[in-house]
Amino acid sequence: MAKNDRANFGSKLGVILASAGSAVGLGNIWRFPYETGNHGGAAFILIYLGCILLLGLPIMIAEFLIGRRSRANTARAYQKLAPGTHWRWVGRMGVLAGFLILSYYAVVAGWTLEYIFEAATNGFAGKTSGEFISSFQQFSSSPWRPVVWLVAFLLITHFIIVKGVEKGIEKSSKIMMPTLFIIILILVVCSVTLPGAGAGIEFLLKPDFRNVFLSAMGQAFFSLSLGMGCLCTYASYFSKETNLTKTAFSVGIIDTFVAILAGFIIFPAAFSVGIQPDSGPSLIFITLPNVFQQAFSGVPILAYIFSVMFYALLAMAALTSTISLHEVVTAYLHEEFNLSRGKAARLVTGGCVFLGIFCSLSLGVMKGFTVFGLGMFDLFDFVTAKIMLPLGGLCISLFTGWYLDKKIVWSEITNDGSLKVPVYKLIIFILKYIAPIAISLIFINELGLIKL
Ligand code: TRP
Repeated sequence: MAKNDRANFGSKLGVILASAGSAVGLGNIWRFPYETGNHGGAAFILIYLGCILLLGLPIMIAEFLIGRRSRANTARAYQKLAPGTHWRWVGRMGVLAGFLILSYYAVVAGWTLEYIFEAATNGFAGKTSGEFISSFQQFSSSPWRPVVWLVAFLLITHFIIVKGVEKGIEKSSKIMMPTLFIIILILVVCSVTLPGAGAGIEFLLKPDFRNVFLSAMGQAFFSLSLGMGCLCTYASYFSKETNLTKTAFSVGIIDTFVAILAGFIIFPAAFSVGIQPDSGPSLIFITLPNVFQQAFSGVPILAYIFSVMFYALLAMAALTSTISLHEVVTAYLHEEFNLSRGKAARLVTGGCVFLGIFCSLSLGVMKGFTVFGLGMFDLFDFVTAKIMLPLGGLCISLFTGWYLDKKIVWSEITNDGSLKVPVYKLIIFILKYIAPIAISLIFINELGLIKL
């Protein structure tokens, strides 16, 4: 792609669905439920929703405007808007974060391929919940199978990236996102009607406040694909007519809705079959096969169809997210180091395979190898979601609220005055004061930087 001839998304709906495709992924259906489970249910969700509204949406608008204004990869974007300043490190940190996230995200995305395979070969039929737990543990800690799936998933991502994504993402998102949505709704109904589901619903709705702010904030950034220039890169493909504020709201609403519904699938089901809500990353892989088996126990063919479809769609949702992560790093290497797009993509894929293998092995044979008490997989997750993304968000809000010329901000948000944006002043106020203060306070308090 030539530098001043950047591709555009074709339609308004395409913009929303491609951005929502980036946002909706394993973060919603895999990470959100287990973080909720680890942090006391309803309290976590309340703070999470607060973070989405107060931090997520304004920062998403800021990323959009930086991307669309500069029409460049995220590192170049800061160089263009703030030449010769240190702001370029915000973009570079984002590229690094994207690379790290992709490396461990692809491990979990690989697991979804194994589960498609299991479901399609009828491997779930007749298993008990104890068996689902032990077979997941066996699978995820084995040295070979997850690595093969991880490489396969990165190769699929690679293949789409080198083909050029715009048409592919936009078109497939238009089919996949609504289908995913319908299946999710059906599963919610199945899950809440399982015997003993009530305890799970209570867990979701009854708050129990503990130390949850950093995790909830990290999850909000992760789920919205924020803080590392992902949506900024996508926005560099937006057209002049795109309403940034409306797009941000649509993406935020879709993403939050999917996450909450995923909660209503997982917890009633988990409580119903006696699985602990704080089982961590394995949570959806041990509860969901159960939902399929139990909810359709009378009609095995339905259990079969729904499990195959669900994991296929989960893999697709993950794919639209891995593509967006891959694109950030590929666009950066391609444009900054004068590499061809193919070569840039090969470097990214190769690097992620390398790191991803270590992440995968850290759940099995390399369990003993830890840094700060965390294995590679958990370390990558912690450092990116709980440190780099909120830190990126802090920098983005300071950059847009304080550094960037007010005229630029105004002309991007209102499309040169042609849109009425009633919340304009509120957005600016949040970017200037509320977001930086809130993020800093959460950092100071929960990382133990200062003991209050
Ligand atoms: N938001 C995606 C999900 O929920 C993952 C993702 C894609 C992401 N791009 C990102 C996370 C950028 C953080 C930053 O699965």
